[in-house]
Amino acid sequence: MKEAKTIQELRKRIPDNQPVGFVPTMGALHEGHLSLVRAAKSRGLFTVASIFVNPTQFNDPKDFEKYPIDTNQDRAKLISAECDLLFLPSREVIYPEMGDKEKYIHDFGHLEQKFEGAFRPGHFRGVGQVVHILFEAVQPQVAFFGEKDFQQLQVIRRLVEMTNMEVEIVGMETVREEDGLAMSSRNRRLGPKEREESVLLYEVMQWARRALKNIPLEEMRAEVKARIDRSDTLRLEYFDIIDPKTFEPREDGEEGDYHVVIAAYAGEVRLIDNMKLG
Ligand code: PAJ
Repeated sequence: MKEAKTIQELRKRIPDNQPVGFVPTMGALHEGHLSLVRAAKSRGLFTVASIFVNPTQFNDPKDFEKYPIDTNQDRAKLISAECDLLFLPSREVIYPEMGDKEKYIHDFGHLEQKFEGAFRPGHFRGVGQVVHILFEAVQPQVAFFGEKDFQQLQVIRRLVEMTNMEVEIVGMETVREEDGLAMSSRNRRLGPKEREESVLLYEVMQWARRALKNIPLEEMRAEVKARIDRSDTLRLEYFDIIDPKTFEPREDGEEGDYHVVIAAYAGEVRLIDNMKLG
C-alpha cells in the first residue's frame, strides 16, 4: 500500500490510467470501514482511503480530544483489505492559512437542521467542508459512504449536486456486531454495562419494524422512549419514524418509505443508528 501525506505526494501516487474509488474516514477502523474499501476494490477501482480526524465537524471538543487514534493498526487493516493508497494529511494540509475557507462552507438547508444537525450544531457544515476539500485533493470517480451515517450520506449527495462535482456516491449497508450493535469507532469507549445495554438501540429499531402498521406511530414513539428510559446507562436524544427523503416525521397511513433514526448516549459515548422500515 502506498502512502501520501501531502497533496503533491497524493497526486504523484495516484495513477492517471485507472478510475479512483475513495473512502474517507477518521480512522480507528473496523469492519464497517473495511467493507467500503472492499466495495471499491471489487469494482476494480484504484482505492484511496483517507484518515483525518476533522476538527471542524466536532461540536463537542471533548469528543474530538477523545477520538481514538490507532494509525499502525489502521494501516495493517487497510493492507489486509488491499487498499491501494492511504492518504494521511495533517491539519495544515487540509486547512492551510489561505483565507478562502468560506469557499468550502455549504448550507444544506433542512438536512442540517434536523436530528443530527439539530443535536450537533455545525456538524454537517464541517463534514461538507472536509469532504469537499478531500474530493478536490483525491479527485475520485466514485466515493463510498456508510448508511450508518444516514443523514451524512444525504448531505454528501447534496454536496455533489450543489457543487457539480463529478463523483458517483455509493451508500453501503451498515455492518453490525453479532448482537446487532452498529460498528463504530466510538464503541471501543463503551464500558461493559454500556456495551451490553447499547444493543437496545438495535432492538427498538427491530421492534419498530415489526410493529409498523400494527401500532399507531405516536404509541411506537412513546414505547421506545419508555424502553430506553428504563435502562441504567442509556439516555435517548431522539427516536423518530421519518420520511427518508425529507426527514419529516411520518404520520399514520402516509404513502412511501418509512425510516427509523435514533441517537442515544451510553454513558459519555454518543451512539447513532438508523434502519429502513419498509
Ligand atoms: P467515520 O466515522 O470514520 O466513517 C467513515 C465512513 O465509514 C463513513 O462513510 C461511515 O458512514 C462509514 N461507517 C462507519 N461505521 C460503519 C458501519 N458500521 N457500517 C458501514 N459503514 C460504516 O463519517 C466519517 O468518518 C466522517 O464524517 C468523514 C465522512 C470521514 C468526514 O470527516
